[in-house]
This record gives sequence, C-alpha cells and structure tokens, in this order.
Amino acid sequence: MPALSYRTSTFTDSVIRRMTRVCNQYGAVNLSQGFPDFDPPKEILQRLSEVAFEGPHQYAVTWGAQNFREALAAKVRHFSGMTVDPDSEIVVTCGSTEAMMASIMAVCNPGDKVVIFSPFYENYGADTILTGAEPIYVPLLPPDFCFDANVLEKAMKQPGVKAVIVCNPSNPCGKVFTREELMIIGDLAKKYDLFVITDEVYEHILYKPHTHTYMAALPGMRERTIVCNSLSKTYSITGWRLGYAIASPEVIDRIRKTHDFLTVGAAAPLMEAATVGLRFPDSYYEDLQAHYTHMKDLFVGGLKDLGFTYTDPQGAYYVLLDISEYGWDNDVKFCEKLAETVGVGAVPGSSFFREPVNHLIRFHFAKQDETLRAALDRMADLSAKMKK
Ligand SMILES: Cc1ncc(COP(=O)(O)O)c(C=O)c1O
Repeated sequence: MPALSYRTSTFTDSVIRRMTRVCNQYGAVNLSQGFPDFDPPKEILQRLSEVAFEGPHQYAVTWGAQNFREALAAKVRHFSGMTVDPDSEIVVTCGSTEAMMASIMAVCNPGDKVVIFSPFYENYGADTILTGAEPIYVPLLPPDFCFDANVLEKAMKQPGVKAVIVCNPSNPCGKVFTREELMIIGDLAKKYDLFVITDEVYEHILYKPHTHTYMAALPGMRERTIVCNSLSKTYSITGWRLGYAIASPEVIDRIRKTHDFLTVGAAAPLMEAATVGLRFPDSYYEDLQAHYTHMKDLFVGGLKDLGFTYTDPQGAYYVLLDISEYGWDNDVKFCEKLAETVGVGAVPGSSFFREPVNHLIRFHFAKQDETLRAALDRMADLSAKMKK
C-alpha cells in the first residue's frame, strides 16, 4: 500500500467523540460531547416542516442563501454594532468547524505558525496541521485562566506567525475574555501584523455579570479579524451544521473560494428554516441566558453541594472538575472508569491542554434537569468509587 499522508499521521480520533462511544457502551449519562438534549425553538422546527414541502432542496448560492446572509448581517449589527455587508463580508459554512478550517487555509501557507491559547478546542490544532502550518501554544493559567502578556508577545512575534485564535467564551475553561484582554491581543496583532481568528459560538451563553466583547468591533480590529461563528449552540441545532465567517471583503473572497472547494455550501433547506431564528427578538436571547443560568446553577451548584472542586464558568456550558484528590495520574483512564463505574461521561482535560495537565475533567451541562439530576445522583458516591 502507498504511504498515507504525514500531515494526518499524528491524528488520533477525537477524544470528545470517543467518550460518547464509551458512554454508550456503559449506559452512562453523557456529559462529555457538548450538545443539548432538549429541542430547538419550535418556530424553527415549524418552518422546517413547511420547508420540507416548499423547498429549497437544491444547492444554495455557494456562500450562503441571500435571505440567510441578510438576516445574519442584521443580527450581527444588532448585537455587535458592526455593519456587515451580506454580499461581500459573509460566507455561510458547514458549522463554525468549516469556517475555522477555511479561514486558516485562506490565510496560512505551509510552514506558517498559528498561536493558540491552551486549553483549546481540539479542532484548532488539527485545522492548523491540515493547512501545513504549525500550532504554537500560549497557556491560559488555571484556576482563573489568565494569560501572561509577555509570553503571548513572545509567541506572536515569532517569525512565520500568521494568526492567533481566540475562543471567546472559551471551551473548555468557560473563560470570557475581558475587553482589556482582547485589546492586549488586538494591539499585539496590529504590532506584528497578524490576523485574529475568533471562535464565538458561545457568544450568547454567558453568566452574569460577564458580557461578550466582539473583537472585530474593537478600534482598528475589523480589517484583521476573521469571525467564526455558528447557529449550533445559540439555537440548539448542532446537527444542522450551519456556521459562518465574517471578515473584510478581500479575506472573505478567499474564504469563499476555499469553502466552495471544501463543501460547496451549507444545507439549503436548513438555512431557510433557521432564518426564522436569526430574526428572533431580544427576549429569545434573554430566555436562552436564563435557561443556561438555570442549568449551570443546577449542575455546578450540585457539584458544590457534593463538595467537589471545580472552576466556575463565566460563559459557554462546561465545567472543569479537579480530580487531584482521587490519586489518578491518567485522566483518560479516570474518565473511562468514571463512565463504567459511576455511570457519568466526562472528557479528560488533557485532550484540551498542551501543557501536562491531567487533573481536570470536563463536564457539559446543556441538558434537561432530569439528565443533570441523574448525573449528580450518580456522582454522590464518586469519591468512594474512584479514590485509589
Ligand atoms: C469552541 C467551539 N467551536 C466550535 C464548535 C463546533 O461548532 P459547529 O457546530 O458550529 O461546527 C464547538 C462545539 O462544541 C466548540 O465548542
């Protein structure tokens, strides 16, 4: 057999998605892979049922249906204050996942470098490697996940660095970057002439008093920021694979071409149905935040009552539990055993960190009350079952 590609030779299967398979094997409550177990808004589903008979069912314009892009531009303007031209500054993609891949491919050459904060959402490293570029990591330091601006500058000024990725709010650590932190990153990007690629899929999932600052809306950042975002989390439609990138016309033109060759386009009927969601009033986003605050209070509050040590998320829907006290030196094995004997699925923290961190595991809490209560009930005797 001919040799397989060296670019993909270091890839393992996604630890997150592997944990879902482990949960299924042991019948564990799956709090590993981040997707809700509740329904999307009924208005979107109602429109989907109409679209089933009305169409469209054929390819949309490769960069996204006109009405979808227009609704998106209006929503982005409403929340960020940015005026975005739906005709030249947006491309609709198959999830934020494709937006990120196409963006990195559009700006990086083989041999370039991309700065990634660690812990990080696992796709960023793989996307960079698939482009032939090299990821370099800057630690976000537990427990509050701040970064050292000197360490960041040292990374950003390395020869060959083309972009820095900012996941805000952050998966897995739940950090919401402050305006001041984003200004530091933005100023360094200007100083060393780099792109900032943001992943803002959790922009509406925030816990008071934290608020979302849009990097692209900061002074002088519009032309060097590529926003990657999606409808997956905001409208509980992770399976619909609807995402988008927003950038300057010159950059979007290149991302559109890359996207065209990667996937041709996002699903036309789903764009049509989801357009309803993009036009929701403010009350939808207020209710979403209230719902997530309720789930966080239930689950994270439950962890607190059970005496666990954890990092309190500022945004997104994940919590990192500290497992140091149970005496394991391998968090992957810990998570497998947890699924088998306690019956709850988590993701080993080491899959998110570049540094040798293996005392944290990640749970997500975008689940119905009964699912979260079932997980907490099972975790009541975690210490007895898991202590070595
Ligand atoms: C930070 C982050 N970015 C992107 C994604 C994937 O988004 P999409 O469904 O839009 O591809 C996830 C999913 O968990 C995520 O946590």
